[in-house]
Order: sequence, then C-alpha cells, then structure tokens
Amino acid sequence: MTSSTLRSHTCGELNKKDTKKEIKLCGWVNSRRDHGGIIFIDLRDRYGFTQIVLDPKKLAEADKLRREWCIQITGLVRERPKGMENKNIITGEIEVEVKKLNILNESEVPPFEIDDRMEASEELRLKYRYLDLRRPVMQERLLVRHKAAQVVRQYLSSQSFMEIETPMFVKTTPGGARVFKVPSRTHTGKFYSLPESPQMYKQILMVAGCDRYFQLARCLRDEDLRVDRQPEFTQIDIEMSFIDREDIYNIIEGLLKDIFKKVLNVEIKIPFLRLSYQDTMSRYGSDKPDLRFELELKDVSSIMKNSEFGIFKNILEKKGVIYCLNAKGCGKFSRTEIEELIELGKTHHLPGLAWIKVEDKKLESSIVKYLPEKVQKELIKAVNAKENDLLLFAADEFEKAVNALGQVRLHIGKKLNLMNQKEYKFCWVTDFPLFEWNEEVNNWQAKHHIFTMPLEEDMKYLETDPSEVKGKLYDIVLNGVEIGGGSIRIHKKEIQARTLQVTGLNYEEAEKKFDFLLNAFKFSAPPHGGIAIGFDRLCALLCGINDIREVIAFPKNKAAENPMDGSPQDWTPEFLKELNLKLDVVKKN
Ligand code: AMO
Repeated sequence: MTSSTLRSHTCGELNKKDTKKEIKLCGWVNSRRDHGGIIFIDLRDRYGFTQIVLDPKKLAEADKLRREWCIQITGLVRERPKGMENKNIITGEIEVEVKKLNILNESEVPPFEIDDRMEASEELRLKYRYLDLRRPVMQERLLVRHKAAQVVRQYLSSQSFMEIETPMFVKTTPGGARVFKVPSRTHTGKFYSLPESPQMYKQILMVAGCDRYFQLARCLRDEDLRVDRQPEFTQIDIEMSFIDREDIYNIIEGLLKDIFKKVLNVEIKIPFLRLSYQDTMSRYGSDKPDLRFELELKDVSSIMKNSEFGIFKNILEKKGVIYCLNAKGCGKFSRTEIEELIELGKTHHLPGLAWIKVEDKKLESSIVKYLPEKVQKELIKAVNAKENDLLLFAADEFEKAVNALGQVRLHIGKKLNLMNQKEYKFCWVTDFPLFEWNEEVNNWQAKHHIFTMPLEEDMKYLETDPSEVKGKLYDIVLNGVEIGGGSIRIHKKEIQARTLQVTGLNYEEAEKKFDFLLNAFKFSAPPHGGIAIGFDRLCALLCGINDIREVIAFPKNKAAENPMDGSPQDWTPEFLKELNLKLDVVKKN
C-alpha cells in the first residue's frame, strides 16, 4: 500500500491497463529532455521511473524544473507513441500527460549524477550519502537487506526463538577485539564499553532459561578496517540450550536456505559440505575456502624427500612440509606472470616459490635436474600433471606453506576467471584447534574464546599436549568469505578450570576477569552453544558484491570517519566539563 494523500501511485507501477486514468505522482526529476517545445521528464522514486510530459505553454513553471527537484504532478496516463516504448521498465509502455505541476522543493545542483554508473569517489558518495542512496542500485541493496532481516525474524520465530535485546553499555571483558569506551557523566572517572558482540549476555540468557535466543545485534569493534570490516556492524546472533553442533548446523542451514529462496529465489542445497580445519588448510590453504573452483593443494613431502634439491631437503629435515599446487593450464604463464606469483608468496611470508612447467610431455624448470626420474614420475601421478600445467611448490612450516599457496590459488582463480559469480558454495569448517601458542607471552591462548568446549576425544591432551586439542568450533563460509562462526560452550566448572589452566589462569583468577558470567554459571548453566552470522557480509553476498559498505545505509570510510556527519568530532571544553574530565592528548609517534 503506497498511495497517500499526495500520490495515487508510485513511479514504478503504471502500465497500459492504467491508460486514461487520472493519477497523482510524487518524486524527483531524474532527467529532462526538451523536444519541440515539450518537456519530457523521467520522474524517480524508490519504486522506479515514470516518463511525464509537460507543455510549458500550459504549465507556467515547467521550464524551471531541474535535476533532483522534488515535485508532485497530477496527470492522465496514455500509451507511448509506437516505437517509443521502453521494454526494460514496467512503466515503459506509458507516459503521463501532466495537467497540474506542484513544485514541492527545489534542489541545489547535485555534486554527481544520480544513476547507477557510480562514477563519484567514495568520499563524495559518503559525504552526500542521501544522494547516493537515491540511486536505484542502492535502493535495491537496502531492500535486499530489509527482506533478509524479515526472513530471519520469521524463520527463527517459527523455530521458537525469542528476539531479545542485550545492552549497548557494558563492562569490558578481556580478550577478543579492541572495544570503544564511553565516559560516564554520573560516575565521574568511570566508563562503559560498547559491546564487541553480545557473547556473555546471550550465554547468561541461557542460564536464565531463555532456551532459544536471537537478535539482529549491533556490534562495535575498534579494528582496522577492510572491505569486509566496519567498526559498527550487525550480526544475526543466536544461542541455544540443550543442543550440540548438529542442531546449530540444522538451524543455520534452514535459515540460509529460506533467505536465499525468499530474497533471491535461489534454491541452495543442504546439508552443506563439512571440512575439518586440517582438511581445508591442506586442500585449499585457507580456513575460508572458495569452493567455486577446484585447484587443490597436495602434500608432496613424502615424494620430495627423495629429491636432491637443497631447499626442499633442508625444510624436510626441519620437520617442514612441501606442498604443490597444480595450476592447470597455466604452463603458458610468462616469466613476469610467474614472478607475480612469487611476489605474492613473499607478501604471505613464503621466501620462495619453486615451479615446474609441463612441456612436450616433460617437466621443465631449473629444479628438474634435482629430481630423479622416479620422483618425477611419482610427482606427475600425485598432482595429475598434464601437458601445459604449471606446478608451484611451497616449502616451509605447514601453516606458512599452505597459507601462501592458498593465496596463490585464489590469485590464479581470479586471474583465470574460475569463480562463477552466480554460484553459492557453502561449507562448514569445523574442529579448529582450541589453543594457539602466543610467542609474545610465551604461553597458550584460546584461539576463539576461552569458553569453547573441547572435543570429548581430545580432552585427554589438555594437560599433556594442548596443540592436539580441537574445539567444538565451527565457521560457516560462503564463496571464500567467512560469514559466521560460533561454538558449543563449556557449561561445567571442572572442564572450564582445565582449559583455563592451559592458558596459565586458575579458576579463581578467571572469576575475577569474567566475574558476571562465571557468577551466573554458579546457578546451573544448561549445555549450550551458539553462532553469529555477519549480516552485512551476508547481505553483500546476496547483492553479488564484497564491500559491506554498499549494504550499510551510513557506513564509515576507511579511516573510520563519517564524511557526512563529520564524526568523530573534537572534544569541546563544555563537553569535558559536563563529564568532569580534563583531556591530556598523548601524541602518537
Ligand atoms: P565472530 O567475532 O567470529 O564471533 O563474528 C561473527 C561474524 O561476524 C562478522 N564480523 C564482521 N562483520 C563486519 N565487520 C566486522 N568488523 C566484523 N567482525 C566480525 C563475520 C564473523 O564471522 N560472539 C561470537 C559468535 C559466537 O561464538 O556465537 C562472535 O562475535 O562474518
């Protein structure tokens, strides 16, 4: 229902069936053309465009109209003359002969054209975001986001979830991302933190018996920004009681299937593929694999141990690995193109990238002379090398080698256009290591967060070899983007004490750090777990893009500023007085 006192229709709906009707439209002047004394205007609103025709001899103010003026018209719908139709838009077969023109507001000349070419710089687009958002493509993106949010609410409500809001002014909890802080006026010298996520609160809701919680939660993190990171972003945040990992997978698969069907009319196949962390790292060199194209890495350490190539031998002696990526059909890459790959490896901390081409049924490169015939044969078989292939080798510690080769894989995928933009390849990545060694503090640290449940079968390693302990952790990945992650949490004090001990904390010390959560746990926490989907990332992918700023109405720029409202702003003496604070800014080096 869009008709109102000022308009009978929108600019995106009139068609041949409305011919001869008297109608009222409101909108902005998108473009203006003068033909033999008659003015043709494309009137634009959120819903589309309608061609209106004005005769300046009858309508005194018609001549004044300029781009982006806001007007209301009353007129008669008529068919466009033969040959003048535009089959690409709904209103393309009609036009409106204007009888009455009402200028609602004039406009300054806009700083850029309001159309889908997006030629303005990002800074200008963000400064005049209200004009940028008038573009049809931006309206479409806001609508996709709105529809997705509606499906989330409907779907989760239908599965007995309750939407519950958690506070925005919270206590800092250690770990995780850097948080923003807000000074308190009523408690001089004290401050609130803004939540990096509702994590602790949603777990407490489980203690409160809320069972199935969700929220389209705003999260605030003081991080360095990238195209897929904003300081303010939204999560579909979920927590459930009396469940295990399978229950989370089921809910999320059902939810994503519903979103893709209702927003894009695309059927996605469930259940999604599941890959263990170890598996995805060794096959794709990434914990967020893009599965739209094949090109898998292969561990060739056992073959290469019989090579005479010094670098390989050296790495293997140091318990390193040698991985190979068969870049199918890239044997014709030039020297410069190969150099590019080597450089890319270097930016990902790989000192070198050895390569071999398959030419005239033979292996060709400066290292072939170090590979005995048997090794060559085994290699060809292991990586299925064929004429015109390019074999790339990374030799290093496991993580370094596969990570760099994974980046090379992605680069080649993009270069050869191997990713189908219309394909949606989901997967779960599971069984992440629970701890990682932190060189700086010389101790183990929780990789995700310290409340994550270890796998039952790995509990035995907690005291003997923490590197062997995998957690009930899962990420959901779509087309190489991590769109969400979560875990089953620890609800038993004994297990919590053991995992804390690995990181060098005893339970009493931890109680001081995470006091309110561990206090709540004293009153019988149920088994529980949850997940958060990055809603902005999901919406961007639904729109076929990567940059999440394109699906946020008022995002920050790369420097975390908003060029439209000028935030962040300077502190003023009045501001500080109100807070009873003095400011002493320490200059950064
Ligand atoms: P995590 O920190 O992995 O988990 O975040 C979940 C998902 O949120 C998205 N995301 C972001 N999107 C935009 N800008 C950012 N700065 C940003 N940071 C993260 C990602 C990510 O996968 N509380 C836990 C979830 C849980 O354990 O239940 C959490 O926040 O898509």
